[in-house]
Amino acid sequence: MKGLILSGGTGSRLRPLTHTSAKQLIPVANKPVLFYAIEALVEAGVTDIGLVVGETRKDIQAAAGDGARWGARLTYIPQSTPLGLAHAVGVAREFLAGEPFIVYLGDNLVSEGVKNLVSRFEQTAPDALILLSRVDEPQRFGVAELRDGKVVRLVEKPKVPASDLALVGVYLFRSRIFEAIEVIEPSWRNELEITDAIQKLVDWGGHVEPHMLTGWWKDTGKPEDILEANRLVLETLESSVAGTIDGCSQVTGRAVIETGATITGSVIRGPVIIGAGAVIEDSYVGPFTSIGPGARIVGTEIEYSVVMAGSTLTSIPGRIDRSLIGRDAVIGETAGLPRAFRFVLGDNCRAEIGWKGGRR
Ligand code: G1P
Repeated sequence: MKGLILSGGTGSRLRPLTHTSAKQLIPVANKPVLFYAIEALVEAGVTDIGLVVGETRKDIQAAAGDGARWGARLTYIPQSTPLGLAHAVGVAREFLAGEPFIVYLGDNLVSEGVKNLVSRFEQTAPDALILLSRVDEPQRFGVAELRDGKVVRLVEKPKVPASDLALVGVYLFRSRIFEAIEVIEPSWRNELEITDAIQKLVDWGGHVEPHMLTGWWKDTGKPEDILEANRLVLETLESSVAGTIDGCSQVTGRAVIETGATITGSVIRGPVIIGAGAVIEDSYVGPFTSIGPGARIVGTEIEYSVVMAGSTLTSIPGRIDRSLIGRDAVIGETAGLPRAFRFVLGDNCRAEIGWKGGRR
């Protein structure tokens, strides 16, 4: 079986981060989302993996390389225009060479991995195997309608969802899916939807097997999803300390402190990860926070946040919460007078200020 990770797309809902980085490279617990997908496939014994890439190919290739570090072989397959997931699968037809394959959306995280799915697909040999998970906002996803445990209808982002069963971004296919991709029409968002291609298999009387996910799943399409994925992954990490913690600091709970990180006069309350070479000084780093490599947190309180590599946070008067801060950002005290808020924010940035006495 071959693997196909779809890593194109523009990541418009994750701007400004995606102005400068591929959405698949956004770190969750200090590791690019995409790497979790590669690891899940390798764990299931799938090592011949195609990555469908778009505009951000260079960055993705620089980060993932040839796959040797995972014992995998990565082949980069260009998709010239992001015309939808079915189109992305279509451009990989030659690479897949008639073999059955597993498609994994490069911005999805699935806690239980895909090993069991691969063996189930091999045993029951359906035309397609889809993963389903109950969600609160089914209208954001592809939605499945089942009858007596069988798939009867799949609709992409329905206004009035027939169920709360969302299509998870992992699919197993045989080459029959290509016949379906050839006949579907673009959707209202002008994309060739993989959901519509699977519906075609259903229409043709094909065997589309549903599998209910038991663990958690996250599509990291929006900032709040990244924070939530970060929380979920941090909860699974084993504590380890490779950095240095001074006698005045207190570290409790699950904490990964990487090589060269230094913690002085600070309170760290896990689960957290502090990246290599990061500096935490006179600060509080609370639960569900990832501090990227080389970041500096000084005189600041922060929790439930992701701070990426090289950013600096100094002397913030209030606690930072639910924040996503990109690489090499600086948040600090205003030097000199007037003592005002002063911003240099790129396109699509969002800053929220809550202070005592502020309007509720
Ligand atoms: C895509 C699929 C959708 C699926 C979702 C899972 O949505 O079209 O059916 O439920 O991935 O992450 P998109 O991310 O393109 O909005």
